[in-house]
Formats: sequence, C-alpha cells, structure tokens
Amino acid sequence: MDNPFKWLETSALGTTVSQSTWLFPAIETVHVIALALVVGSIAVLDLRLLDRTWRVRAVTELTLDVLPWTWTSFAVAATSGFLMFASAATKYAADTPFRIKMVLLLLAGANMLAFHRFTYRSVAAWDVNAPTPPAAKLAGGLSLLFWIGVVTCGRWVGFTTQ
Ligand code: HEM
Repeated sequence: MDNPFKWLETSALGTTVSQSTWLFPAIETVHVIALALVVGSIAVLDLRLLDRTWRVRAVTELTLDVLPWTWTSFAVAATSGFLMFASAATKYAADTPFRIKMVLLLLAGANMLAFHRFTYRSVAAWDVNAPTPPAAKLAGGLSLLFWIGVVTCGRWVGFTTQ
C-alpha cells in the first residue's frame, strides 16, 4: 500500500484501537499520566538551569536522579501516543496542531541534545552554589517553552479532529 497512514489505520493494531469503545480512552489516560511525568520532571531540571530553584543541589546529581524518570515516562507517552495515532493515522497526520506538536517534540529533543553536547561539558564550573551560564539558562527556558507548546498542541488536537 502506498499510503503508510492508511496502511497503519487499517492494520490489526489500528483497527483494534479504533473498534474498541474503551481502548482509546484507556490509552489516553495512560498518555496523560505519562506526559505529566515527562513534563513535570523536565521542568524540575529546566528551573534549576534557569537558576530559579535549588542552587544548593548539584546539577549533575539532579540530572542523574531525574532523567531516568523522564526517559521511562517518555517511552510510555510515545508508545501510548503512537497507539492512538495508529487508530486514525490519516486524520492526525493531516491535522495542523498535531503536526506542530511533532515539530515541537523534535525541537525539544534538539535543544536537549545541543545542551548536552556543548553547555553541559563545562558543568563542573557551575554545578553547585554558582550561577548557571547564559547558555544553560537559554536551554532551560527554551525547553520549558517547547514542552508547554507540546502540551498545548496535544490538547488542541482534540478540538480540531472531531
Ligand atoms: C511526551 C510527549 C507528549 C506530550 C507532552 C503529549 C501531550 C498530549 C496531550 C496534552 C494530549 C491531550 C490529552 C487529552 O486531552 O486528554 C495528547 C493527546 C494525544 N497525543 Fe500526545 N503527547 C506526547 C507524545 C505523543 C506522541 C509521540 C504521539 C504520536 C506518535 C502522540 C499522539 C497523541 C494522540 C493521537 C493524542 C489524542 C488526540 C485526540 O484525539 O484528542 N503524543 N498528547
């Protein structure tokens, strides 16, 4: 089949979700709990990078504590999101808020990658009880904005795909 979205929504996976009356709401509930953990845990780090919380707590320690929660809950959010997407892939793929949400997810990932590649290398100099550098503040601020955007667009999808 040449349209991958049509193929996905007519696959066993897509039809199982779309033909059940309870699966979609159950998966959406899991999605919401997982995304609250993703965004909540990332916000803790972002606010630390912005120098707004916990200057006495080392950034390196906080990162080690928080990131496993972020990655685990992100895996759950992405899997549950994909399952809902599979139920009506053509509709979601054509929806503007859904597309913006995916672009914002990529931007949030790129921001995180750039922070770890460049700014985090000098973390020893500002790990604890020291002001964070402007590049770290920028990464924290951008991250908060991108994630707020992802949540806003995610909720918005529900109003444009009826
Ligand atoms: C951690 C990253 C994500 C966040 C913060 C997020 C955020 C949201 C939010 C706030 C909602 C609305 C929930 C509601 O109104 O009950 C939602 C729904 C949804 N999300 Fe996500 N999402 C994420 C990842 C994904 C991914 C990776 C996909 C697809 C591969 C996806 C697909 C969907 C779908 C299909 C819906 C249902 C839209 C509807 O029909 O109402 N999400 N998401």
